[in-house]
Amino acid sequence: MKLSKRLAAIKQFVLKDSILADIGCDHAYLPCACVLDGTCVRAYACDINEGPLQRAMATIKETDTLDRVFPLLCAGLSDCPEEVDCVIISGMGYETIKMILENDFERLPQFKRLILQSNSDVDLLRQWLSDHSFAIVDEDLVHEGHYYQIVVAEPFGGRKLSDDEILFGPLMPQKELFQEYWEYRRHKLSLILDQLAEDHDKYAELTELFQRIDKQLKTSS
Ligand SMILES: C[S@@+](CC[C@H](N)C(=O)[O-])C[C@H]1O[C@@H](n2cnc3c(N)ncnc32)[C@H](O)[C@@H]1O
Repeated sequence: MKLSKRLAAIKQFVLKDSILADIGCDHAYLPCACVLDGTCVRAYACDINEGPLQRAMATIKETDTLDRVFPLLCAGLSDCPEEVDCVIISGMGYETIKMILENDFERLPQFKRLILQSNSDVDLLRQWLSDHSFAIVDEDLVHEGHYYQIVVAEPFGGRKLSDDEILFGPLMPQKELFQEYWEYRRHKLSLILDQLAEDHDKYAELTELFQRIDKQLKTSS
């Protein structure tokens, strides 16, 4: 099954022989791909909306995985079966991901791994994980129209991340697209700063961010 670059990058982190829940699965491409190549024993394709779940059902039928991929109409992790040990939450904004994690916070230690891909505020997501003692065990960065950051977290053994690790990612500097991505962000920021009056509310904050990115790029080049 051919996955997009972003979904393939997410899939590489799914634990072998795990029982997966893809929360907000939409087409259920990931759960189907994971059972088809034997990465997962079983998978739950979960979504809060009927439309996406119907799309999930169509993929499950097309891929002949009805015996191993189970569609579930549910909000977040609330009805996620006890046997699930690996969770994907991807393609949503940080606030939605945070809400899903916080609504079932007491269940999170049940999962060996959470694979998170937020479309916004990835630094806030890392801050949340650090504040709640999750370990970031891997990360990746892919480009497919936009840049997407993937954060792989496990519920135990986390340490407090530094401010730079929160912003750039503790493991991101080793990744292939790291330099390219932050050069792109620095460039975008320089265009914004060029247009902003020095007494604007955001000027000092964005200048500080620009300087941090500039320093990081000089260190890692
Ligand atoms: C943009 S799609 C992302 C689909 C897929 N995860 C991906 O990465 O391509 C977001 C999906 O999340 C679902 N969703 C949003 N909030 C949710 C929640 N609280 N619980 C479960 N699903 C949710 C939406 O219905 C939608 O199908």
